Amino acid sequence: MIFLVLLGAPGAGKGTQAAILSERLDIPHVATGDLFRAAVRERSAVGLEARRYMERGQLVPDEITVQMLLERLAQADAGEGVILDGFPRTPAQAVALDTALAEHDARVDHALEIQVPFEELVRRMSGRWICAENGHVYNEVSHPPRVAGRCDLDDSPLLQRDDDKAETIRARLDLQLGALAEVSRHYDERGVLRTVDGRGSIEQVADDLLAAIGPVTRGAA
Ligand code: AP5
Repeated sequence: MIFLVLLGAPGAGKGTQAAILSERLDIPHVATGDLFRAAVRERSAVGLEARRYMERGQLVPDEITVQMLLERLAQADAGEGVILDGFPRTPAQAVALDTALAEHDARVDHALEIQVPFEELVRRMSGRWICAENGHVYNEVSHPPRVAGRCDLDDSPLLQRDDDKAETIRARLDLQLGALAEVSRHYDERGVLRTVDGRGSIEQVADDLLAAIGPVTRGAA
């Protein structure tokens, strides 16, 4: 059983790296942003509520977010562990996760923070495209698709996220970086925080994250 938490500012590369680590470690990638975007597409009650916060660059309230995440973790495929991307985002979420894992004699094994300078975060989000079908992530500069406007993996059209408009990008960074620092401190105090320089290539950052985790023993509690 292994529980990894990927931390980083909006645009740091959490989703990109979570997809790579998920494949290499063979454990599911769970992203609260993806869960919220799916809920928005489905126009569910959670989606309609979350949208009001997402379009302003604000965090969705803890109560809604924690409940949604715990429901996802209760699914069978999360039994051997998960890579969490975008959760926890507040100290209250971190405590809720610790409590839920402790009920299963588990804990967050590694919290990996990807660090990227502010202006590079803005550049990355401004050039981001995601595929309509599965949310696969591209960048017009650093990670372009093979065919313009189409996903390499499922051929669905590439779209810009609603919250990747210039004004929302700045708002997200202004509103969310303080909470990120608090969550990093939470894991530092528990001795599981590792920081990785996110300015390298996607492959380099993936290698550094895997090195920070060290050998992974699957199936051990
Ligand atoms: P969420 O979807 O989690 O967005 P985020 O944290 O703002 O993170 P991003 O998805 O923007 O960035 P990322 O770090 O995954 O970077 P990516 O890999 O895409 O959340 C969206 C919203 O939902 C939040 O604002 C909030 O409202 C709500 N929400 C979600 N979780 C919540 C929670 N727990 N509590 C409350 N509210 C919550 O990469 C970015 C770009 O850079 C891409 O184009 C990529 O191709 C490129 N790139 C990646 N790595 C590199 C590299 N090494 N070099 C060059 N380019 C790179």
